[in-house]
Amino acid sequence: MTLEEIQALERRFLMPTYDRLPFYPVRGDGCYLYDASGKRYLDLFGGLAVNALGYSHPRVRAALRNDSEPLIHVSNLIYHPYQALVAQKLARWTGLDRVFFANSGTEVTEGAIKLARAYARKHQSGNPFERYEILAVENSFHGRTTGALAATWPEKYRAPFEPLLPGVRFVRLNDTAHLRQSFDSRVAALLVETIQGEGGVVPISEEFLRTGQELCRSHDALFILDEIQCGLGRTGRMFAYQRYELKPDVVLVAKALAGGLPLGAIVARDEVAQAFSAGIHGTTFGGGPVQCRTALAVLEALEAPGFLERVEQTGAYFREQLQRLRSRLPIIREARGEGLMLAAELAVPGKEVVQQALEAGLVMNCTQETVLRFLPPLILEPHHVDEAIGILEPILTRLQANSTNQAAKHFASTEAHA
Ligand SMILES: Cc1ncc(COP(=O)(O)O)c(C=O)c1O
Repeated sequence: MTLEEIQALERRFLMPTYDRLPFYPVRGDGCYLYDASGKRYLDLFGGLAVNALGYSHPRVRAALRNDSEPLIHVSNLIYHPYQALVAQKLARWTGLDRVFFANSGTEVTEGAIKLARAYARKHQSGNPFERYEILAVENSFHGRTTGALAATWPEKYRAPFEPLLPGVRFVRLNDTAHLRQSFDSRVAALLVETIQGEGGVVPISEEFLRTGQELCRSHDALFILDEIQCGLGRTGRMFAYQRYELKPDVVLVAKALAGGLPLGAIVARDEVAQAFSAGIHGTTFGGGPVQCRTALAVLEALEAPGFLERVEQTGAYFREQLQRLRSRLPIIREARGEGLMLAAELAVPGKEVVQQALEAGLVMNCTQETVLRFLPPLILEPHHVDEAIGILEPILTRLQANSTNQAAKHFASTEAHA
């Protein structure tokens, strides 16, 4: 099928929920995607932080092609070996104890909200309204179901579906005083993305996180870190929060976990996990054998000696290059991020940059209208960074020149009217 044929069919038969780029890759290898004509594209988007090992990674392929174990699905009411093996790794890396598997980021957020309420109920008098509130942070994104969405900040996502889950309040971003004021005995959990992804690669300050953790401890509320986008090696550490040696009660992962198959996990401290019991929470597909076997392969790749160090080094080099561009192009307001979760915030909308980059063979993303966001495969190397900058620099230089010209014209016309 051609791109045009697919577009025509989709226009007729799909719900109009996505504004897709006109791009139809037919195969991938490493950090590259290829269209039907054989044109190569460097991928700095990684399927929205999912393809951490890029495309056709030998470990992922081997896990998927393990013909000796052909079971695709067995249900969560019987056994397969891989859930426990993945859980063991996640527990080891987080220093937490127990895992619940689901299918997506939204679903693990939703499950974590339920876990916080179940934990609160178990540890309080049993009065449902004694402790049930979730504190979330302004500018956050936690998912699209009515619970996860209630903890998601942008009005445009929430407004059409209100009323959403009651009992969610927002704290001002990185405002520790407001966080303190917002805490009271009704709070069951503080839910925070360690680095906000959809919000534009915005780091939560160490002070805010530390204060949140302390307040949770003193109020017997759960400190839940959403590492769905920033976790699993993305920042050059297994989890972004490990930069500050925090001790969350619950960590949420999804996206990169199973190399492109749908899998998410709630990882929790033992006492918290015990708030769930048989039948109280569940899913048909979550944690299936193929997903978990593939997740094991992904996790083994991430923990291979030197892997995370390379993410950190390549990320530092990429960030340096973005800083260099910023120093000569004022249209770039800020270059920020950690490891291979990076952003260049522009003074103008970035949609056009994404289109032009695609034409030139570079796949990337713009979030929050003006933030160019980079979430490449974690196997990215410095030569890929050079290639990407080689494509971006002329595009941004032209954008700079256009906006300078426009500003000059605007200035001239206001002068003429004065
Ligand atoms: C931090 C964070 N939490 C939750 C989600 C929701 O995950 P999913 O789209 O897998 O439901 C996302 C998705 O982008 C995310 O970035």
